[in-house]
Amino acid sequence: MINKLLARKSIDKLVLQSNDKNRSLKKILGPADIVLLGIGCIIGAGIFVLTGQAAAQYAGPGIVLSFVLSAVGCAFAGLCYAEFAAMIPLSGSAYTYSYATMGEFLAWIIGWDLILEYLFAASSVAVGWSGYVVSFLADIGLNIPPEFCNATGARLVQIPGPGWTSIGAGTVSALSESGIDISTLPQVTGVFNFPALLIIALCTFILVIGIRESSKVNNIIVFIKLTVVLLFIAIGIKYVKPENLTPFIPQNIGGFGNFGWSGILRGAGVVFFAYIGFDAVSTVAQEAKKPQRDIPIGILVSLGVCAVLYIAVAFVLTGIVKYTFLNVPDPIAVGVDVMGTAAWLKPLIKIGAVAGLSSVILVMLLAQPRIFFAMANDGLLPPVFRKVHKKFQTPHLTTVITGGAAMILAGFLPIGVLGEMVSIGTLLAFTLVCFGIWRLRHTQPNTPRPFKTPWVPFVPIMGIFICLAQMFSLPMMTWLRLIIWLAIGFLIYFLYGIKHSVLRETEKVSRAKYQL
Ligand code: ALA
Repeated sequence: MINKLLARKSIDKLVLQSNDKNRSLKKILGPADIVLLGIGCIIGAGIFVLTGQAAAQYAGPGIVLSFVLSAVGCAFAGLCYAEFAAMIPLSGSAYTYSYATMGEFLAWIIGWDLILEYLFAASSVAVGWSGYVVSFLADIGLNIPPEFCNATGARLVQIPGPGWTSIGAGTVSALSESGIDISTLPQVTGVFNFPALLIIALCTFILVIGIRESSKVNNIIVFIKLTVVLLFIAIGIKYVKPENLTPFIPQNIGGFGNFGWSGILRGAGVVFFAYIGFDAVSTVAQEAKKPQRDIPIGILVSLGVCAVLYIAVAFVLTGIVKYTFLNVPDPIAVGVDVMGTAAWLKPLIKIGAVAGLSSVILVMLLAQPRIFFAMANDGLLPPVFRKVHKKFQTPHLTTVITGGAAMILAGFLPIGVLGEMVSIGTLLAFTLVCFGIWRLRHTQPNTPRPFKTPWVPFVPIMGIFICLAQMFSLPMMTWLRLIIWLAIGFLIYFLYGIKHSVLRETEKVSRAKYQL
């Protein structure tokens, strides 16, 4: 039984497979393309939505420190991803790496866990997209009732200035500090999020008929995103008021994670979401001209650029708006509102956010079916997950299944719950990738490593430590949801995957041949 669970794919075979001319993809991407691809995947709802919400609920202006801590953890994990990506330049990311190093069972767990990263992230970003679209439409006089653009059961209050805001822990006291009694303001309860549902349906349709976002379109969208973020920082910095930033670390209001230092740690766990995407760079290893050099460059440079931008945005945002008023679907737009003289920036920010978030949703919904595809090819999921449409040449059934699930999640759940699931799931995958690098140095010390993670075991240990610290800082409910998710995964593996694994079938055949 244990042997079954630990069955591994051979790294040599995987490398041969990646060099196979018939199976390999065109090697056209240079280092700049890969960096831009990384930035395209990274900048999304994390910075445009979660920064404000995490500042309002957990860390206050100290969210700046949360971004620093999370970036350090990502850098350690990024170095480990880079070693794997250069050593096994195949798509499939952490799933493929763990199949080669830690055996089938852990590979399955990571593959199952990656659903939290890709499918749930697509839903979270769709909710962020909805927030900016609704806010843009309201500016041009088209008001969507708040009941139909928010999660089921979300309680909302219309605050003069920021507009419809989720009622959180600090809302009532923040309002009474400003002399407003919350009961005098209009309040509603969310039914479902129609725009979020719509954007997922649209992206799924695009992916089924197979219009791939070209690298040129990606470059234009990255340019728009970077311009919007840089303009926000450059113009916003003049409106920063020291009183908004004091106290920089608001006092803990009771319980772990509710401001104070524990709030900064929880904030790091939440905004970790904003950095996710650099690992997706590893999935294009087969299309890179020089993967051994360019994939590590792509991962580390895109991560570095985004970290600097995020830290600056977090500082400016909490410097221009009191953090208690940032629990809104479009915090950056609320920030721009405060800069009265820069009204022209507002539509630009919203259009930039909508374009930028659309591309992240598309990439996430593209990646998820491909991971299912790899798992079905290995026999761990039923063959329906690897069916390809005759005309469109796309994995249409799995794309529709993915899209349908993402629509349900985006339509009914709030971005906070979804984002925290993405964070905890991805942090677990990163922890296992760091562990894999450390272990492999002992079990396969002679395998060629075109890129070597420096200072092993220090770097992987620090990666594991910071990722675990961020995981443990997340709320109990998020842990409970993760445990239930993993339990469902175990069940599927023991009822299906273990019996249908292609790897073991192949091993059985070769053992039988050998005995003959
Ligand atoms: N990092 C991506 C985002 O923030 C997932 O949207």
